[in-house]
Amino acid sequence: MIKVGLLGAGRIAGVHATAISNNPGSELSAVSDYFPENAEKLAEQFRSVARTTDEIIADPAINAVLIATSTDTHSELIEAATAAGKAVLCEKPVDLSLERARACRDNAMQHGQPIMIGFNRRFDPNFKAMKTALDAGEIGKSELLSITSFDPAPPPVAYIKVSGGLFRDMMIHDFDMATFMMGEAPVSIMAVGSSVVDSEIGEAGDVDTAAVTMTYADGRIAVIKNSRRAVYGYDQRVELLGSEGLLQAQNMLENTVVKSTTAGVTGAKPTYFFLERYMPAYAAEWSAFVEAVNAGSALPVSLDDGITALAMAEAATKSAKTGQPVMLADV
Ligand SMILES: NC(=O)c1ccc[n+]([C@@H]2O[C@H](COP(=O)([O-])OP(=O)(O)OC[C@H]3O[C@@H](n4cnc5c(N)ncnc54)[C@H](O)[C@@H]3O)[C@@H](O)[C@H]2O)c1
Repeated sequence: MIKVGLLGAGRIAGVHATAISNNPGSELSAVSDYFPENAEKLAEQFRSVARTTDEIIADPAINAVLIATSTDTHSELIEAATAAGKAVLCEKPVDLSLERARACRDNAMQHGQPIMIGFNRRFDPNFKAMKTALDAGEIGKSELLSITSFDPAPPPVAYIKVSGGLFRDMMIHDFDMATFMMGEAPVSIMAVGSSVVDSEIGEAGDVDTAAVTMTYADGRIAVIKNSRRAVYGYDQRVELLGSEGLLQAQNMLENTVVKSTTAGVTGAKPTYFFLERYMPAYAAEWSAFVEAVNAGSALPVSLDDGITALAMAEAATKSAKTGQPVMLADV
């Protein structure tokens, strides 16, 4: 039984508290938050206890921490938890600064503890099935990947200002999905972005609409499209063209009813947002972590995967600013 300390008691922490409590191999030992009342509320909901972050990290009876705090605390908490001998699952991104994330890796890896980054979409049953089919050779060699990832509505501008920008905060999931599907990182990245959804996002120095083209060493190509607004719901599709066929993962819909009348053919909207779409993925992500930690085997998503995705975000941010392609090796 893994005894877990949950650091952070905000929006995504509630999802993780459910996964930890529902998994027969883990127990939610304690919850912390910068605001103690948040920790108390979540702890009460899951019959756990609220403690401070420092107390959780210092407690030798706690074997693992799940870091679901604000992004600017991730590197520091990964370092502290691994130094205290704990296994870590940390939410994305590793940091907002690539330099700081690399320093965190150099520091934390010395302690030899398992560290996994929360790229939950790798555990989505649809994307996982695509990857399994690809690895089994069912569409031959992958050649052209296309990822569509649109949020239903933009977050408040106050959030945008501290988010690190669309490429680090939102597209980071798609950068990791590209690495997952293509089996390696690209060599060059070309990005464009603009604020056509909300001019205030532009005034805050960020973009809300972006497209990225990535080229791999052997000439393969990946394209990612992001928008902070799709009025019909959370649009999450992946398409992969291979030498012997095509794999497509479509949206999860609110229901499967299709209405056909003389007016046309209509169906349900996609599920609203990540909490609706990815609940099974968050549970599967946690199970994979528990299994690997118990077995002492390699984690399915590493700290290096987190750093690769952050480097891709850094390259895309630079490319969108300069209008020039950026080599991944140069960031
Ligand atoms: N994988 C996903 O799908 C997904 C989805 C949402 C958020 N996230 C990531 O999860 C993280 C949290 O996002 P959120 O939306 O839950 O934010 P949030 O603001 O709702 O929650 C973050 C919480 O962390 C607390 N906190 C800050 N510093 C702390 C510390 N040192 N110790 C304990 N608590 C501390 C804050 O008080 C806050 O309650 C972010 O890094 C975000 O990028 C990932």
